[in-house]
Amino acid sequence: MYKMSANENPFGPSPKAVEAMQMTLPNLGFYPPYSDAALREKLAEVHGRGLTSDNFVLSNGGSEALHLAAMAYLDANSSILQCPPAFPVYERTAKQQGASIINVPLDPETFAYYPEAIKKAITPSTKVVYICNPNNPTGTTFAQNVFDALLDAIPEEVLMVYDEVYYHFVKGLKLPDVIGAVLAKKNVLIVHSFSKSYGMAGLRLGYGIGRPEIIVRLEAQKNAFHVNALALQAGEAALTDYEHVGKTVDNNTLGRKYISESLQAMGLKVWPSEANFVLFEVPEDRVAAELSDKLLEHQVMVRPAFGLDHHLRVSVALPEANEAFINAMKALI
Ligand SMILES: Cc1ncc(COP(=O)(O)O)c(C=O)c1O
Repeated sequence: MYKMSANENPFGPSPKAVEAMQMTLPNLGFYPPYSDAALREKLAEVHGRGLTSDNFVLSNGGSEALHLAAMAYLDANSSILQCPPAFPVYERTAKQQGASIINVPLDPETFAYYPEAIKKAITPSTKVVYICNPNNPTGTTFAQNVFDALLDAIPEEVLMVYDEVYYHFVKGLKLPDVIGAVLAKKNVLIVHSFSKSYGMAGLRLGYGIGRPEIIVRLEAQKNAFHVNALALQAGEAALTDYEHVGKTVDNNTLGRKYISESLQAMGLKVWPSEANFVLFEVPEDRVAAELSDKLLEHQVMVRPAFGLDHHLRVSVALPEANEAFINAMKALI
């Protein structure tokens, strides 16, 4: 089975991360270090720009950074604003806190954000606004001008959660300088993950970047020995394996182009993706879930795109898998 449904890294973890985990295995009888500062310091060093370990909070996957933010900022009297189609964990973690959901959908044709509509929809109870760039499940992106407009649209006391877990894969534009906004003390929490470009989805490691006042609020939600010893060691090793990330990104750039162009050549509507997956519309006479079931019979696993009827999302994989997917699509359509 070619698994192309969860935006994983087809190369898996960096060999350096695997080695670091192997070295850690005999010591698993011990707790991890009481402080996770070593990995946060490494993150500060790798991201540069004058960030320090106090700008980082570690989590069990980017999803848990979203959960920590929800626990720190939301309660039953608050609301969040999201722009569907959006990653379901925003809504899920907000609802777990009893918060209500305000939806300001993306432009249905281009999947662009509407800063003005966001500004109008925010209420006094709104505590968090979720922005995702590149967005899942659309793969679409925006540059600095849109980020600036979003910052202007969102009141200073409202936290902007800026989900950037796919940032390594972006080739077609310059992403906004959101770390610059963090350094300028804006109310922004950036979410990153080791599940995508670093290939460690099964290990569960992610992190948030923000000004120290935000980080402290998220830290307060955590228990001791929060991130496990394997993840701490593997994370440090993975961060500086630039070769592995480079190989991952190069494979993704080629595969994304191949999949996008092949689907377009079949007459399908495909959205320009800057992530490690491609969103496309299924032909009018087909049901997305049925087509995805049929693809399973061809050993290819994709998924219907959440929040969008009639669309499938396929993760970029190795060339052999990408071809198997395209051949199966040709056979089925
Ligand atoms: C937009 C987005 N944010 C966050 C995550 C969280 O990933 P993880 O919890 O594996 O780090 C994902 C995973 O697919 C995602 O697509």
